[in-house]
Amino acid sequence: MDSVDQDSRALCAFIRDHPRLVVLTGAGISADSGIPTYRDRRGVWLHREPIQQQAFLEDENTRRRYWARSWFGWPVVRDAIPNPAHYALAQLEAGGSVQLLITQNIDRLHQRAGSRRVVDLHGRIDRVRCLSCTRVHARETVQGLLQARNRWTYRGPVATRPDGDVDIPEDVCRRLVLPRCELCQGDLMPDVVFFGGSVPRRRVATCMDSLEQADALLCVGSSLQVYSGYRFCRRAQQLGKPVVLVNPGLTRADDMARLKLTSPAGPLLARTAERLC
Ligand code: APR
Repeated sequence: MDSVDQDSRALCAFIRDHPRLVVLTGAGISADSGIPTYRDRRGVWLHREPIQQQAFLEDENTRRRYWARSWFGWPVVRDAIPNPAHYALAQLEAGGSVQLLITQNIDRLHQRAGSRRVVDLHGRIDRVRCLSCTRVHARETVQGLLQARNRWTYRGPVATRPDGDVDIPEDVCRRLVLPRCELCQGDLMPDVVFFGGSVPRRRVATCMDSLEQADALLCVGSSLQVYSGYRFCRRAQQLGKPVVLVNPGLTRADDMARLKLTSPAGPLLARTAERLC
């Protein structure tokens, strides 16, 4: 029996004993869809300084840097396809095992794989809001606005980052003409929670209410380094509900896990869904 098989049998047994799960996912579940993680398997940050919410709101150059990098990076997320891990969680939801799926990812791959009961804890990158009139734009519409206002391109090296971000030279970012709201010409912001921003209280409350009703918390592909996700592990522990981790690397909740499965999420969850559904 290989290690994926062993882990899958353990997870199946756990789910049979705890049939109502809340699932929390992180960047690791989308790694097989070509979207990089933020941290490595030791939980170490892999990238440059992330955009801070306050700086985005107050500083035009920060918005210019964000939108220039997003102009080249958006197609990576737009064109990403769900992988077996996303489909397996949708299957487990259809089979009645998943009461709620809380994702820290903003790529909408769970919904595209068929999951219905999903909370995008950190928002969604396929939607953009006007900071003045709050009008919502589809991100692809904003891609058209970027193209229309910037009749130039950049053919240099591009390093893909998480969240539809890419690394391009600062002087290229400074050339960008910002996209503007189609209605009022206001500044635009992706419908996501940047670093330093806070998750809407009602969104957190929905997740906590679901956790109260669940039998256990299953965390897949998250380092749990950020309090925003980790708080659900702490709450599960306070409620006396077991926490299961699917992660080949270290997480902040390793010491509280009932079960730590180190197989990669794709093959493990696909085999588990096959067995259970
Ligand atoms: N299967 C399971 N886990 C995997 C896989 C895989 N195939 N590949 C990588 N991982 C694990 C890594 O070991 C790592 O622990 O995925 C985890 C990714 O951790 P992070 O990059 O820290 O992602 P996440 O936990 O989602 O970050 C949470 O932090 O940067 C902020 O807002 C951002 O939503 C993000 C939040």
